[in-house]
Amino acid sequence: MRRFSAEYLEHTRRGMWEDDRDALADLELASRERVLDVGCGTGELTRVLAEEAGAGKGGDAGDADPTGATVIGVDADPELLAVAREAEQRASGESEQGADHESGRGTDREGRIDYLAGGATRLPVRDGAVDLAVCQALLINLPDPTAAVRELARVSGDLVAAIEPDNADVRVASTVDAEERLEREAREAYVDGVETDVALGDRVCDAFDAAGLVDVRTRRYVHEKRTEPPYAEAALRSAARKASGAGLADHRDELVAATSEAEYDDLRGRWRDMGREVVDAIGAGEYERVEYVPFDVTVGRVA
Ligand SMILES: C[S@@+](CC[C@H](N)C(=O)[O-])C[C@H]1O[C@@H](n2cnc3c(N)ncnc32)[C@H](O)[C@@H]1O
Repeated sequence: MRRFSAEYLEHTRRGMWEDDRDALADLELASRERVLDVGCGTGELTRVLAEEAGAGKGGDAGDADPTGATVIGVDADPELLAVAREAEQRASGESEQGADHESGRGTDREGRIDYLAGGATRLPVRDGAVDLAVCQALLINLPDPTAAVRELARVSGDLVAAIEPDNADVRVASTVDAEERLEREAREAYVDGVETDVALGDRVCDAFDAAGLVDVRTRRYVHEKRTEPPYAEAALRSAARKASGAGLADHRDELVAATSEAEYDDLRGRWRDMGREVVDAIGAGEYERVEYVPFDVTVGRVA
């Protein structure tokens, strides 16, 4: 199983679904009662689902949870689940402190997520237990995405959804010219060298068809990640990782598989030079970068 650090997930998902949730419309979240997020990691999507699920249901005035919707996150990595649970405990504590005790209502709908350990092709959930089974950036990391979609279809009585990036179609615009060139070079080699289909994107619908799902639809959402002054702490860390070559080294195996040791070393040298340029430009307050990451949201119905 490919592993991810909590820092990587927080960094890559920062701001995702904050402004624009139109691409989630086909998940019909407002009317969902039981939602399962498979491969939930640190719960970046799970918390969005918890905010939206059941929002159209209303509820009795005295209900502690007026929506009544349940959201469960499942992941095979216990370290990421621990980070997700900590965030959940913090959210519960905060909503308790801010609760309106006269009405019994919390101030938000967070604080009602359960996290479970489990594998994507053997979920710890009975057949038809939820009305939406969803995953984000999971299928691109699996050797057999269709087997996982079949398992999502087994546990859902209604909708199945997958939000998967097309990593071959990522674009970077930067005030440091070398960054655009080198990121393209590294990305093309990574997509060639990695063992799973990290450019799955809108081809997920083939796996949905193969799993027997019907009424399959896809919408594209482009996650824009901006770096500009004043620079956040995460932007400074990311620039430092470029200058040390650490960011590229995370993908060393895939890059060597697509090229050679010598070509990887050459790329790493040029990458570190570029990283130092980025650090200098940040120091001068002149650095700006936008990364566009396309995600395809595919939804199907259990027949
Ligand atoms: C790229 S991360 C995405 C995390 C989260 N869905 C998000 O979008 O922030 C992929 C996640 O899938 C999990 N994962 C990978 N293979 C898995 C498997 N076979 N069963 C369950 N989880 C798996 C990883 O532990 C990781 O949390």
